[in-house]
Amino acid sequence: MLSEQIVERLNAVVGAQRVLLDSSDFQRFGVDRTTIWEPNPCAVVLPASIEEVQEVVRLANEWNLAIVPSGGRTGLSGGAVAKDGEIVVAMDRLNQVLDFNPLDRTVRLGAGVITANLQDFATEQGLFYPVDFASTGSSQIGGNIATNAGGINVIRYGMTRDWVMGLKVVNGAGDILELNKGLVKNNTGYDFRHLFIGSEGTLGLICEATIQLTRPPVDPNVLILGVNNFPAILDVLQTFSAQIDLNAFEFFSQAALDKVTAQMGHAKPFDTETPFYALLEFEGSTEAVMDKAMTLFEQTVEQGWVMDGVLSQSLSQAESLWKLREDISETLWHWQPYKNDISVRVSRMPDFLREVDELVASRYSDFEVVWYGHIGDGNLHLNILKPENLSSQDFVARCVPVSSEIGQLLAKYEGSVSAEHGVGLLKKDYLHYSRSPLELELMKQVKKAFDPNGILNPGKLFD
Ligand code: MLT
Ligand code: ZN
Repeated sequence: MLSEQIVERLNAVVGAQRVLLDSSDFQRFGVDRTTIWEPNPCAVVLPASIEEVQEVVRLANEWNLAIVPSGGRTGLSGGAVAKDGEIVVAMDRLNQVLDFNPLDRTVRLGAGVITANLQDFATEQGLFYPVDFASTGSSQIGGNIATNAGGINVIRYGMTRDWVMGLKVVNGAGDILELNKGLVKNNTGYDFRHLFIGSEGTLGLICEATIQLTRPPVDPNVLILGVNNFPAILDVLQTFSAQIDLNAFEFFSQAALDKVTAQMGHAKPFDTETPFYALLEFEGSTEAVMDKAMTLFEQTVEQGWVMDGVLSQSLSQAESLWKLREDISETLWHWQPYKNDISVRVSRMPDFLREVDELVASRYSDFEVVWYGHIGDGNLHLNILKPENLSSQDFVARCVPVSSEIGQLLAKYEGSVSAEHGVGLLKKDYLHYSRSPLELELMKQVKKAFDPNGILNPGKLFD
């Protein structure tokens, strides 16, 4: 419970209507998509400007109160969970497009702009914002930057990091920093912009961003292939990517397809059932590219890797085929999945896949396991589904030891315990499998430089 005096000071900064103290608001603003932790903030505040954010951070320092920055709360690692009496600072009202420059092809906008609105804005200008994932309808650009969101187009366009040209942030000491100011070339020492990208709200609150836009892809085509076994997916990837520029190379298992078609009512891509499916997107701008794609498809069938396939014949069919992949995550919430978001270099994927597959089969033998992910960039999503008869707590307790074994395997393959979902609360105990003790120590020192009193998102990333 906040004292009346503190509430009054917050009211004076953001307006009494924008200081939320009801438990229903705590439930709404105090969690992300994870279901493991109970929200328990002391207040939710909704500032409308960077100056208001700055004032809240200064007050939090004065009273030694922690802050949890909050965007669309679509995160999957507990990075936006406020479980220990923190003030949630929600960016919803910083939702304006502030400036567009057609020559630079950049847009400056508030951190609370919904990702899909940025994508629509780009389309209206005849341009394209390429970072795309299932939760673009509610995720906010500030949250995307704080977690360096990836998604389905990374193989061609990279992560959120690659599109951020400038940031305005408030650090933990309550100072405003303007980072990189939209410059393409700027070799003037440490690039703090990149420190803030992926820092999960532990260094500062991202209030404004300048985002690069690009030209839209021409005539995107989607090809879904039914693949015979896990390693063959990589053979298919190598065959296609050697000859065609791919926008995406995704995969999912038969179990994922069964669930997404049953739950969402989507049609199956074809009748043949195969253990795995690969989804490829490429620009079909010329007939030569389309002929090449068909030839490669035939080759993969001749090799025995692929059993069947379907190529989109229209933009709307391409969009329908994408739903088979994009709706998997939403579908699986029904089973309260325990999520692993892991990566290794693509060249190490065949050996890693064999070992992780063996590990999962032996350690999760009584659980249902659903595989999917962005295999073109080495990123696997391994979801363990909770059996109905097991409580959430017992289920998580059973999954946790296996995560350590997966972590050990990742350390052996020099992989990542969190490829794109971030560390938050969920993965911090496994961070040491991917980062050295010295790196972890340096991270803590960096945090101290930007957040001297440790008030920003404490307990996230590391303790
Ligand atoms: C996805 O690739 O669908 C997202 O990362 C979400 C998820 O893994 O659940
Ligand atoms: Zn993903």
